[in-house]
Amino acid sequence: MSTATEAAHAGPSAAVRKIAVIGGGIMGNGIAQVFATGGFDVALVDARPELVERALATIGRSLERVAKKQGWPGEQARAILARIRGGTDLSAARDCAVVIEAVSEDFALKRRIFEQLDALAPAQAVLASNTSSISITALAAVTRRAERVIGMHFMNPVPVMPLVEIIRGLATGDATAALAADLAQRLGKTAVEVNDYPGFVSNRILMPMINEAVFCLMEGVASAEAIDTVMKLGMSHPMGPLALADLIGLDTCLSIMEVLHEGLGDSKYRPCPLLRKLVRAGHLGRKSGRGFYEYPAAPSTPS
Ligand code: 3HC
Repeated sequence: MSTATEAAHAGPSAAVRKIAVIGGGIMGNGIAQVFATGGFDVALVDARPELVERALATIGRSLERVAKKQGWPGEQARAILARIRGGTDLSAARDCAVVIEAVSEDFALKRRIFEQLDALAPAQAVLASNTSSISITALAAVTRRAERVIGMHFMNPVPVMPLVEIIRGLATGDATAALAADLAQRLGKTAVEVNDYPGFVSNRILMPMINEAVFCLMEGVASAEAIDTVMKLGMSHPMGPLALADLIGLDTCLSIMEVLHEGLGDSKYRPCPLLRKLVRAGHLGRKSGRGFYEYPAAPSTPS
């Protein structure tokens, strides 16, 4: 980090200079990008070298886009990218004060990663998850540092969306919550603190709307384009719910609905059969080139 940034910041995260991001999919890339842009050194870890390479290439393209729009000097995007070190070894977390896990929405996978991170990361390090719906309390329980485990839920596309939903698990300490909120603020984001409950606030409200849009499509109420246009022009949503599902990933939408259904036990959260069918077919949205709409350009990095 630059000396100027260090001197300027005196909040709870002042000592944080290097962070690790685990998972180089859509969300992990975006998180690595905004931290590097904020002046932090970032270790970006994914399971295989080709996934790491692809993640770095995606971030490079995204930074070029921002540079062009913001009129950054030629070197700036490259200098930011150079702050991100890619690798396949979780032990990159050894010298990080904060680790943010952003792998796919699979509890068994996240559990394994949290167990390993707990053994590898410094005892005082904060372990955060970008999970969109998995219980922070449950992830914290597999570590020996439950008070230093928290949710930092970024929104897609991360470089653009100003919110970070901060999720407190049952045992999350006040110092950890303050540090996470302060970090978000240093990235230019607004942190909103919520408690651990299925879907938290964001996906508890957003996903049933998306799921209902899929029911409307399945029942022939209207075409995908008509459903999205109603919500865009009638409710001023920046994009329609089906286009948004394609952006998020239909597999992610399905797993969040399953968490809501199982965690809250109400049939109003049952995932729409058409959503299941599309996921089974591999129509996952933008990342696979096809979801409710088709995306003829090369698929972007899957999450
Ligand atoms: N990286 C950097 N900048 C990007 C970007 C990216 N990946 N994607 C878009 N942008 C920038 C554009 O350059 C543009 O900047 P400008 O206004 O300064 O010119 C701005 O964002 C708008 O982009 P576009 O003009 O290309 O397109 P739109 O105006 O249609 O906006 C959108 C795109 C920002 C995605 C907008 O449609 C939107 O806000 N959609 C809703 C997104 C949303 O709801 N996200 C939350 C999803 S839920 C979630 O993530 C939680 C998870 O748990 C499921």
